[in-house]
Amino acid sequence: MIFASSNRHKYEEFRRMLSDLIDLKFLEVDYLEPQGEDTREIVVTSAKWLSNYIREPFFIEDSGLFIEALNGFPGPYSSYVFKKIGNEGVLKLMNGVENRRAFFISVIALSYGRGIEVFEGRVQGTIAREMRGGGWGFDPIFIPNGSNKTYGELGDEKDRFSHRGASCRKLREFLMRFESDRLL
Ligand code: IMP
Repeated sequence: MIFASSNRHKYEEFRRMLSDLIDLKFLEVDYLEPQGEDTREIVVTSAKWLSNYIREPFFIEDSGLFIEALNGFPGPYSSYVFKKIGNEGVLKLMNGVENRRAFFISVIALSYGRGIEVFEGRVQGTIAREMRGGGWGFDPIFIPNGSNKTYGELGDEKDRFSHRGASCRKLREFLMRFESDRLL
C-alpha cells in the first residue's frame, strides 16, 4: 500500500499506526489540490486524478485546523497559512480572544480496485495560549479534548487523541473487515 503526499510527517504517523497491518510505502508527490471549502470533495478529486498515474492501491489525506473565533479559518488553507504566518501568526490573531475552541479534521481517500473510499476523523480541542512542545505544523498550539497537553507535547501518544488517529482507525477497520485479502 502506498501513501502519497508531500508531507513526510503525515507518512510517519500513518506508518506508526498501521505498521502491524501493512507495509506502508511513501510516494513523495506534490500534486495540485483543487481549491475549495469542502475537504471531502478536494481529497476525492485529487485521488481520482492520482489514480491515473498510481497503478496500485494508495491513499492520500487532507487535513485542516478550523478555529471557531476566526469563523473556521484557516480550514482548507491551513498549509498555506502555516507557511506564511506559522504558529506565532495564529497566536497573534488569537491574542485577547477568550473563545479558544477549534477542531482538526483529517480526510483520507483510499483508491483501490473497486473505486474510492473516504474515511474522516474530527477532533475537537482548544488553541493554547503559547507554543508548547515539539512536533510539526500546528502541533505546539493545539490541545485535543481529553488531554491537557498540546499535540506537540504528546509525542507518539498524539495518535490516541488526534484527527489522523481517528481517520486512520476507520481505514484500519475497513482494511481488516472488507478487503484484507486483496489489499494487505
Ligand atoms: P494539507 O492536508 O496538506 O492541506 O495540510 C494541512 C496543514 O494543516 C498542514 O500543512 C499543517 O500545517 C496542518 N496540519 C494538519 N494536520 C496536522 C497535525 O497533525 N499537526 C499539525 N499540523 C497539522
